[in-house]
Amino acid sequence: MTSNDAVELDQLLNETKDVLVEYVNQCQQEGVSVIDPHSPQELEKIFDFELTEKGVGPEGILDTIQGMLRYSVRSWNNRFIDKLYSGTDPIGVISELILGVLNSNNHVYHVSPVTTMMEIKTSRKMAEFIGFKDGSGITCPGGSASNQLAVITARNRKFPHIKREGFRRGEVLTMFTSAHSHYSFEKAAIMMGIGTDHLISVPCTDHGTMIPEELEKCIQQSISRGESPFFVNGTAGTTVLGAFDPLRAIGAICQKYGLWFHVDGSWGGSVMFSNKLRHLIDGSELADSYTINPHKMLGIPLQCSYLLTKDPHVLQKFNALNAEYLFHGEHYDLGDGTVGCGRRPDAVKMFLAWKYRGAKGFEIRVDRGFDLAQYMYHKLSEHPRFRLVAKPVNLNVCFWYIPESLDLSLEKINAEVFGNHLAQVTKEIHAYMRRSGRFMFDYAPLHHPEPLPIFFRIITHPRLTFDEVDELVKTIAEVGEKIFPNYEEFDEDSESVQSR
Ligand SMILES: *Cc1c(COP(=O)(O)O)cnc(C)c1O
Ligand SMILES: *[C@@H]1O[C@H](CO)[C@@H](O)[C@H](O)[C@H]1NC(C)=O
Repeated sequence: MTSNDAVELDQLLNETKDVLVEYVNQCQQEGVSVIDPHSPQELEKIFDFELTEKGVGPEGILDTIQGMLRYSVRSWNNRFIDKLYSGTDPIGVISELILGVLNSNNHVYHVSPVTTMMEIKTSRKMAEFIGFKDGSGITCPGGSASNQLAVITARNRKFPHIKREGFRRGEVLTMFTSAHSHYSFEKAAIMMGIGTDHLISVPCTDHGTMIPEELEKCIQQSISRGESPFFVNGTAGTTVLGAFDPLRAIGAICQKYGLWFHVDGSWGGSVMFSNKLRHLIDGSELADSYTINPHKMLGIPLQCSYLLTKDPHVLQKFNALNAEYLFHGEHYDLGDGTVGCGRRPDAVKMFLAWKYRGAKGFEIRVDRGFDLAQYMYHKLSEHPRFRLVAKPVNLNVCFWYIPESLDLSLEKINAEVFGNHLAQVTKEIHAYMRRSGRFMFDYAPLHHPEPLPIFFRIITHPRLTFDEVDELVKTIAEVGEKIFPNYEEFDEDSESVQSR
């Protein structure tokens, strides 16, 4: 029987091509909304989610595809500045298409020769950028997974007996991360049976960076309690403020105490491509491992995350089970270094984007995002009713709007009520903007060192224009004045800090 897959693919591609190109075009038109928001109940009414006995075939599926496009968030729209990822680009789409066509699996080399090599080559090249001379790496299904693989590998290296015996009586492992850490470390502590009590939060500066002296103190205290420290997480770009930890100082402490030094660069790790910004990760070569998520700042399609390692064999050395039936001892069988089995060749997307526009293309992209953040910072500083949470050091711009009806002197008289009001303003402007579909951005709480009223967190993706930043600032102020024309609009009881 001959397959007519090629004929069917041709038909589907022909039919969807125009729809997709038109969609991208429409996403980027002036005035189009980021989303037409609907509740789940409304969505069920207007979109056909029914799974039927009989298929709809090529004629019917186009309707479904068009509906998907229509009711989804238009991440290609510049004004989607809600999350750490944004829209991808044409080469990103093409690479996804090729992945779909290949349907390859990067666990063993012999089923994925080209895509495995792409994974190795991109890993090695990025490892070089951060100063791992003979480093390598592997892709993982997201930054959390990369971080978790780092923790597991670090534990297996320092406590090899745990792989077989489990924890010994009285054995308490501790790991250290900054108080501004992403929750993926808490999850790692839970999954590995270390317990969140033994994930020690190191105090941060007001700007959200780990204080090395405090780290050393925490390590010494842990040792004196009879615990076994093994892992330190420094961050290159915290999720909320975007802060970069002082990697060189942290690295020196890790060396002194023989601890695995991991750098979570899920968000800010991409500055490795920028000559201007690479100083932010000064000391990265001291790390044992480094997470980078090209699916965030570099615009590679979700998902694409790497765990880079200084020792090129460390993942296989400490994670392999030597599952003989699958792995035949080849270093090219990448799956052996993970805790999983089958793996999507996400590296293909990084490889093709790199080939297409060069490392220079990544540099331009990263630099532009940083320039936009500084531009927005200056715009906000010029306006008397905006207040910055911190000066941006990344693409994260965090701030409050203070409507004119809210007397600034209230802050001195009753800081708590003032803070509650700021939080209310943030939430209500946010909800209004989301309904309008004009911009989509997020707000965030921060609990360290002091709980702050929730504030706007905007990510200045490289796709934004300077004019759109102007418009955003202007719109937030206008909406703030519109919702809070006088002091009666403020609610006495609103909660200022939203828990995570
Ligand atoms: C986004 C992020 C993560 C998690 O990455 P995912 O790909 O979403 O799993 C971890 N750490 C930091 C600092 C991040 O910004
Ligand atoms: C490391 O710390 C950063 C913030 O300092 C955090 O975002 C990240 O999730 C942490 N990673 C781990 C594995 O603890």
